[in-house]
Amino acid sequence: MSKAVFTIFGASGDLAKRKLYPSLFRLYKSGVLTENFAVIGTARRPWTKDFFEGVVLDAIADLTTSKTEAQQFASHFYYQSHDVEDAAHYHTLKVLQEDLCKRYETDHNKVFFLAMAPQFFGTIASHLKSEAIVDGQGFERLIIEKPFGTDLTSAKALNQALSETFNEDQIFRIDHYLGKEMIQNIFAVRFANILFEHVWNRDFIDNIQITFAESIGVEDRGGYYDQSGALKDMVQNHILQVLSILAMDKPASFSSADVLPEKIKVLENLRMPDDKLIVENFVRGQYQAGHINENDYPAYIDEASVAPDSKTETFASGVFFVDTERFQDVPFFFRTGKRLTEKGTRINIVFKNDANIFSQEVAQNILTIYIQPTEGFSLQVNGKEVGKNFAIEPVKLDFRHDADALGNSPEAYEKLMYDVLNGDSTNFSHWHEVKASWTLIDEVVKAWQADKTPLSYYKAGSMGPRESFDLLEKYGTSWIWQP
Ligand code: BG6
Repeated sequence: MSKAVFTIFGASGDLAKRKLYPSLFRLYKSGVLTENFAVIGTARRPWTKDFFEGVVLDAIADLTTSKTEAQQFASHFYYQSHDVEDAAHYHTLKVLQEDLCKRYETDHNKVFFLAMAPQFFGTIASHLKSEAIVDGQGFERLIIEKPFGTDLTSAKALNQALSETFNEDQIFRIDHYLGKEMIQNIFAVRFANILFEHVWNRDFIDNIQITFAESIGVEDRGGYYDQSGALKDMVQNHILQVLSILAMDKPASFSSADVLPEKIKVLENLRMPDDKLIVENFVRGQYQAGHINENDYPAYIDEASVAPDSKTETFASGVFFVDTERFQDVPFFFRTGKRLTEKGTRINIVFKNDANIFSQEVAQNILTIYIQPTEGFSLQVNGKEVGKNFAIEPVKLDFRHDADALGNSPEAYEKLMYDVLNGDSTNFSHWHEVKASWTLIDEVVKAWQADKTPLSYYKAGSMGPRESFDLLEKYGTSWIWQP
């Protein structure tokens, strides 16, 4: 059972409604939150408590089985109209915070969630300190959403601003991929199976392929996305985080104190490409008009809030190398993009071939980790084809379930909120990880902005530009997943 007063900055926003309120409700239903909690929602709009409760009830409508339970939950929500730059407003917030702490007996524990534009993160953190809302009593934890900066310089400035009020172990930088069931499952696959643990290295693994494909376009986020692009939106954070879990050495224990240093080591050992290598090893693409499942979609440059001459990439692909003893020279291929053939997040671990005693070619063993929309694993192994001749054929051992259909996977946010309440930062991005990933990504961005790599185009509904396929060919392999 956890006790805390949550303060959500950006309480009227989309993220709060779609993710936070439902996640808190699920924690309430499962008994992690009982009666000893309260939520202060803040935003500029002048809402009343009643209206805010209504917003919360709407947000959890799909999860509600008992009206009384939902109303009881919503009664813990309080609203405070707030201008993040106005010190006087923090004073009112402090009074409310203390009042709720007493009323709900929350032991002074506080969780602050910044679900708003990152340019305000620094101001909020500094007011929390100057107005003594952060007062050293109980636990005090800050949750922040991506993006953590837009390059290394801005990320450093932001980190500096936050660290005036919070220590590293009080800052929980959300990467929602780290809350996904099957991403967390990579730890289990790697470290709970003797079958894999001892072959998880450069002697046995030929290459690793990470695909984060989306069939949606930029939806109503053209304004943000056109300033960001696939590299900053998906690679700097989600893909590099997943890569760090795939490539890390075995931690001494499954705790943040042991896991995080191993992940950091991977990111700090990413091979830094020079301009020549960036041109050879990284591909940027943008979608043109096309169709998916018989629906026609416009080109990226015709989407709302996107500059008509935009050079922003909606697809990024490339290869990373991790210069550690374990993975030296093993290619980690990645690709991610909008308006691809279908939504599919998966990882293929392609093993090397052993010396072959048969008179035919033998397929490589492949371990596939399916992250979404289905969750599970498959392992491609070789067996004998039924018949009197001796022929070898690959077969797939497949274990999968449809997470959405079963509806039993907790939401990523629910798990991450649970971790925050327990003070467990294993599934959050550490500052050293953020720093190391921006260091590399900045180099690629610089080369792309200088047009060192031409922008390639792909049709909506395809799996990205030809150059992404050519890249793997240069390394003597090909994308295993070709929907
Ligand atoms: C977000 C990106 O971080 O992740 C979005 O900003 C992207 O552009 C989303 O669509 C994908 O997340 P998921 O959980 O739907 O795979």
